[in-house]
Amino acid sequence: MVPLQPERRAGGSVARTDATGRAEMLPELLAWTTSLEHDRSLVREDLLGSAAHVTMLRAVNLLSKVDAERLRGALFAMFDEATAGTLLLADGEEDVHMAIESRLTRDLGQVGQRLHAARSRNDQVATALRLHVRDQAARTLEEVARLVAELAERATVECDVVLPAYTHRQRAQPITAAFLMVAWGTQLLRAADCVAVAIERADVSPLGCGACSGTSLPIDRSLVSGLLQFNGMTLNALDTIGDRDFTLDWTWGGARVLLALSRLATDVIDFTTSEFGFLLIGDAIAAGSSMMPQKKNPDVFELVRGKTARGIGHVSHMLTLVKGLPSGYARDLQDDRQPSLDTGPLVRGAVRAVRAALPHLTFDRERGLRAVADGSTQATDVAEALVRKGIPFREAYKATGELVHLARQKGVDLASVTLIDAAIVHAAFDQGVLDVLDPKVAVRAKKSAGGTAPERVEEQIQALHAAADALDLKAKRTPPLTAIRTHIEAHALAGDPSR
Ligand code: ARG
Repeated sequence: MVPLQPERRAGGSVARTDATGRAEMLPELLAWTTSLEHDRSLVREDLLGSAAHVTMLRAVNLLSKVDAERLRGALFAMFDEATAGTLLLADGEEDVHMAIESRLTRDLGQVGQRLHAARSRNDQVATALRLHVRDQAARTLEEVARLVAELAERATVECDVVLPAYTHRQRAQPITAAFLMVAWGTQLLRAADCVAVAIERADVSPLGCGACSGTSLPIDRSLVSGLLQFNGMTLNALDTIGDRDFTLDWTWGGARVLLALSRLATDVIDFTTSEFGFLLIGDAIAAGSSMMPQKKNPDVFELVRGKTARGIGHVSHMLTLVKGLPSGYARDLQDDRQPSLDTGPLVRGAVRAVRAALPHLTFDRERGLRAVADGSTQATDVAEALVRKGIPFREAYKATGELVHLARQKGVDLASVTLIDAAIVHAAFDQGVLDVLDPKVAVRAKKSAGGTAPERVEEQIQALHAAADALDLKAKRTPPLTAIRTHIEAHALAGDPSR
């Protein structure tokens, strides 16, 4: 992300002292307690929070126009440097907030000391983190929406590839590859909903809550909220500064996406084995073995599944971090950083890997069809055909079971049982009933909502497309950080002209 390069300060003094005027902490403890290392991914968000804060301080006449202009200009300049990856901040700081304030004071002198009126790092870090989570969750949602749309598109192409569906990892009933892909996409949609919830939960402005109880200064929290394009403000200052539920929701949303991908990955990994053989793995995504020359391994999908462990770990990290904390802020909360900041890159990395790999997977049509050609996976269809003829289901189930048994006894496939033999088992067996042993007929026959019939799958594909579009729209409602910068800058530094 944004490299926040360390800069040793002349004389070895730490800026923490510069900013607060307080004595220095033991260097080894400052080094141990600092969050600066992890905060580097939050620097642009923090700068935007400060730019909005300055704009508001000016609007309520707590800053002169000249001071506000200088401060906001410097903050935007640092934002641009951070975007370009050239921002330098002193490394001897407790966190990114102090490092920025100290740099402002160094560059602007006295004016820098006016920035922190009516705020605390407690509401400041909550603001930066909310901006970060909202942005990361939105960018992740866009990526998931793309994957869902791509699965839907691919499903259209694969609609007549037949293969077995599994229950208990035993061949169960025939489906199409399209149907399988829609199943993957549908699971991803539920995960995406959790990410969308994380966006909503993050989308309220904490700035102005101060240390824990608000401020006696005449601030305008709603102006700040509008400048940062939040959907509203948090309700209660004490709750706000100790609240990390939104990051918990974010890690949960991220873990849910990974979970969906890991199950997709297992299908792919299994189906590319010679035991299943329904998918062929393209050279562009296959990994080899250092010893076995014949190997074409699905490492990409194994890594997707493996990285899911880290995403799940982030959820449990957040749950455990918050559990048992008292009301208000505790420094424990600083350790929200690793899970909150890692979730976005982790999840998007996995989604992108799957998106890149999917086009290099080819279904082996012949192999898929062969796995359901013996008719055994169509036994339920035979029983249902009897039910259509008025036979009670249990009787039909039993008769079909006897037919399966007969086939086994004769050493033939269920699909090869003759009509004469079948009629001995039950008088209701006729050619019409036995025709459903054809897997393609069986697939077409499941016209119930959510079933495998082509018209049903087409509806499901359209539903995936519509949901992917809706998710993308939702994600795009969260402005990118650069757009927020522009939005704040467009707000004139109005206020009492005499100041
Ligand atoms: N570095 C802290 C964090 O990231 C900032 C807030 C510190 N507040 C305090 N009162 N020490 O959570």
